[in-house]
Amino acid sequence: MCRFDKSQELLKRELKVSPLAAQTYSKSYRYFCEGLAPSYMERGEECYVYDVDGNKFLDFMCALGPVILGYNNKEVNDAVIAQVNKFASGSLQSELEVELAEKLCEIIPCAEMVRFVKNGSDATTAAIRLARAYTGREKVLMSGYHGMHDWSIGASENNKGVPKAVCELTKNFKYNDLGDLESKLKGNDVAAVILEPIQADGPQSDYLECVKEITHRYGAVLIFDEVVSGFRYALGGASELYGVKPDLVAIGKGMANGYAISAVAGKRELLDQIEQGVFISTTFGGDSIGLAASLATIRVLERPGFYEHIENVGKIMRNGMIDLIDKYGLNDILSVCGLPAHCGLSFEGHGSLSYLDVHSIYSQTMIDNGILVFAVYNLNAAHSKEEAQRYLAASEKAFDLIRKAIDQDSVDGILRGGKVNPVFKRNK
Ligand SMILES: Cc1ncc(COP(=O)(O)O)c(C=O)c1O
Repeated sequence: MCRFDKSQELLKRELKVSPLAAQTYSKSYRYFCEGLAPSYMERGEECYVYDVDGNKFLDFMCALGPVILGYNNKEVNDAVIAQVNKFASGSLQSELEVELAEKLCEIIPCAEMVRFVKNGSDATTAAIRLARAYTGREKVLMSGYHGMHDWSIGASENNKGVPKAVCELTKNFKYNDLGDLESKLKGNDVAAVILEPIQADGPQSDYLECVKEITHRYGAVLIFDEVVSGFRYALGGASELYGVKPDLVAIGKGMANGYAISAVAGKRELLDQIEQGVFISTTFGGDSIGLAASLATIRVLERPGFYEHIENVGKIMRNGMIDLIDKYGLNDILSVCGLPAHCGLSFEGHGSLSYLDVHSIYSQTMIDNGILVFAVYNLNAAHSKEEAQRYLAASEKAFDLIRKAIDQDSVDGILRGGKVNPVFKRNK
């Protein structure tokens, strides 16, 4: 068993000075079994991470999506270092800004213009502001998670601190349910329909095309939030994969192999409004390190083979998990959700076991077997069939223990310490 002494010591220190001891909820110690998992990372190499105690983990979190080529990628690092030696943020624009904007207009189907920001929330918020300005309307319909800003988090259960008037402007609609979307558009003067185009097992046939038609019929702007799906399933994201062009797209996570950059892109008539005073501006928007990293990342992603590779490795993992769930008779407890390139498990309770008990057994066992994963896996270019087999071997051990816990209706003798304890819990 690994020891996490230094991680624990740092955690204790950080908890005194920084809430949750992590700047992203899903990277917090509470998303693992307390005391039995690493919290601090020393370095990464391809698809492996080394924690501050010297333990090595096969990583399927990939920094929650951004690390798409693998940690410490030489081509990306070389591009970044070359730029670091010139300047990071400058008093004038970097010419990399021109190059990357042109490249994004080439690879993203709806992109005629691009505005760079820093994280996914900035990008979705910029898209919403552009849509509101363009339509002269205020209401928003959304489906998925779109970041931490008021307009979107206000429509979730986690809306403490958001003014009620703001919460009321955004409503959720159900993915893959055209009737639900249309009933919410009808008579409501909606400015924007924003959705993650790939959710669960993906869009039903023609769903995205029909969403576009209905959205436009009611005079709203269609925004694809491709912060996750961009660069992960295809270079041009879901809009390339399914052949549907939205009016605007928000991209982020996968575009620079872990360096911070995001963008809103889309139709000229929408982006052009920035010249007429629609305010989208941030000090680090054109930071040249993110630009350099993104250009290098895209250069690698453009070479043949990356997307086939990810798909093939993902298929081994996805199909393998489905078989193992069957083998251990866990179909009521575990389900596999997602397309091969980005998918994972969801957990249900059983008898006196809660879904968090089941999740904790899974999490503890994966860490015990040297694998860093939350519930959904992210793949990078360095994961191969061998890593997929290691993931399945560890998953089998976890499923065996889940079976045992269900049969004895208890986690006694299985869980050794704290449980997974997310800040935001489901109702059951
Ligand atoms: C689909 C989607 N949109 C937007 C965001 C917000 O991105 P960020 O956390 O970089 O602000 C996320 C983050 O997880 C996301 O998954």
